[in-house]
Amino acid sequence: MNSSHTSLPRIAVLATGGTIAGEAGDAAKTSGYKAGVVGVDKLLGAVPSLAQVAQIQAEQVASIDSKDMAPALWATLCARVNALLAQDDIDGIVITHGTDTLEETAYLLHLTVKSEKPVVLTAAMRPATALSADGPLNLLNAVTVAASRASWKQGVLVAFNNQIHCARDVTKTSTYAVDAFRSPEGGALGWVQDGQVEFQRSVVRPHTLHSPFQMSAELPAVEIVVSYAGASRAAIDAFVAIGVKGLVIAGTGNGSLHSTLQQAVVDAVKQGVAVVRSSRVGAGHVMRNGAAPDDALGSLTAGALNPYKARVLLMLALSAGTAPADLQRVFDTY
Ligand code: SIN
Repeated sequence: MNSSHTSLPRIAVLATGGTIAGEAGDAAKTSGYKAGVVGVDKLLGAVPSLAQVAQIQAEQVASIDSKDMAPALWATLCARVNALLAQDDIDGIVITHGTDTLEETAYLLHLTVKSEKPVVLTAAMRPATALSADGPLNLLNAVTVAASRASWKQGVLVAFNNQIHCARDVTKTSTYAVDAFRSPEGGALGWVQDGQVEFQRSVVRPHTLHSPFQMSAELPAVEIVVSYAGASRAAIDAFVAIGVKGLVIAGTGNGSLHSTLQQAVVDAVKQGVAVVRSSRVGAGHVMRNGAAPDDALGSLTAGALNPYKARVLLMLALSAGTAPADLQRVFDTY
């Protein structure tokens, strides 16, 4: 799809699949459809007004349900984003993605894209074939955000349901609602509506050009373990036995661990495994030596990162060869 308005910003749309590209046999169905089947040209074709916002070039990078996202595709996507943004004739990128792991991909790119230009992820809760599909407007809004000069230097953004979120803060909070994405601690960065973009706060922590991390297809193995009533240490012991380099604990409350897990953590750390405490609560932050004695356990704390994003940061930090003594500083910084 090429616009004739040659003075408009040039935006590359990279499609990866998801419900935004989902297809159901029945327009009334918003579940039980197949994600990632509608091609990027058809997605763009459903939004003719894009031609008034940007000159678009489109690429189908993948066609997956994002539950199957994996480091090899992250590496491909990150390399493609960095290559496109290095071109003078590209002003920004929009990535269409499934909602299920969007927040992980967004945060990974936030730390590994090396450009000031906008990168905006978007998605949909309803398939492309649904009555009141939310994908077309989300796509138009994402391109509007990517085409806006105000979006430069803001890191990787998520445009969803008229809101603009920081990749670090945003998380999926509903299995079905069209306002599924929230930034529980700081709130949205801004909004987009009818062609207007406004940022109401800016991103504080370093990202993109100010992040030292690089994406590599071979990320170290880091797994997530949950603490809950009656939790056993079996999962931690099994992960350590297969040689993981890191573990993120999705703890209760302020990242507290069932007492059976505490001893397992001590044993894992003795084996050289980096262990990060985060919370399964979905909002708030985990304080060092707050709900568990990190100095005694040898554990680290994730702050406000949820377990899935803490895992992304730990993989990148370990991949960069960060010394164990420096890992807490990494979590306190990025
Ligand atoms: C997916 O994550 O690919 C499927 C679910 C969705 O996009 O909402």
